[in-house]
Amino acid sequence: MKVDVVVIGSLNYDILVQQDRLPDIGETFTGNELMLMPGGKGANQAVQCAKLGLNVSMVGCVGNDIYGKELISSLAENNVVVSHIAARGNNSGIGIVQILESGDYCSTIIKGANYLLTEEDITDDLFENKPLVIFQSEIPSAIVEYAIQKAHRLDSKILVNNAPARHIADETLRLIDYLVVNETEAGFMHAAPVNSVEEAQICATHLKARIAGDVIVTLGEKGAVISTGTGAQHFPAVFCPDVVDTTGAGDSFIGGIAYCLVKGIALAEAVPFAAEISSCSIQKYGGQSSFPMLPDVVHALRVQQSELSH
Ligand code: RIB
Repeated sequence: MKVDVVVIGSLNYDILVQQDRLPDIGETFTGNELMLMPGGKGANQAVQCAKLGLNVSMVGCVGNDIYGKELISSLAENNVVVSHIAARGNNSGIGIVQILESGDYCSTIIKGANYLLTEEDITDDLFENKPLVIFQSEIPSAIVEYAIQKAHRLDSKILVNNAPARHIADETLRLIDYLVVNETEAGFMHAAPVNSVEEAQICATHLKARIAGDVIVTLGEKGAVISTGTGAQHFPAVFCPDVVDTTGAGDSFIGGIAYCLVKGIALAEAVPFAAEISSCSIQKYGGQSSFPMLPDVVHALRVQQSELSH
């Protein structure tokens, strides 16, 4: 099988709690519902790519625990190639996610086995004849930088989702073909707040000058901004009346962008397509299980176009 996309990143078992509000310091608060689901930004992005019909291989580490087995099963059930996932150490990565009434979430991750990935795992065959490699920032920084350099040498296109945001060396930044960050991550990388479309446009233009390729800054309900040349272009968000849970929305967006890149679709078309995918994902709880298949996205786009034309 020809692999379209390699995802080198995290697998977390997510513990999601739906609750009316966050507790205050020192307060014990009663949540509404507990959900346990496979997640992790790397695994989520791999699953969304696969649900859109891409051939995807994932590279990562889980622990020798019950969560590790479930994390691998979830990928395999979604047709992601799992032969480069190792089981090491006792504990898988864990995501603790608090989902509020608005659908907004906050999360804390426990690194676990995600940090047991080594340079020896990053073999040349991962990149040979692989059009696109995707990275996030939930595995060791040194491994990401090492793998980016190798991917570049072996001619794969490199998409980096610097989430959660952390420092990336300038010489590595210069090898990135697509940088995708949300407003918080963009603000961190630009060392200035990004609270508006205008600030996102300025930030995207500055970040574009630091990398090899194009920049996307996602802004939640304010849409997204791209910088592919000089200046930046804004795309409004897809209106979604039924927001339940935004966990993984950024990951499903990246799956949509990856699909378009593999299919040779320009970013200006890719962003509205990916935004529609995110909009589908936020109407259900969780990450991977909330992500749409390609026919669902095509249907949602048709509905949206017919609503706009009336
Ligand atoms: O992007 C959502 C993901 O972030 C969750 O699945 C959680 O595990 C964290 O990695």
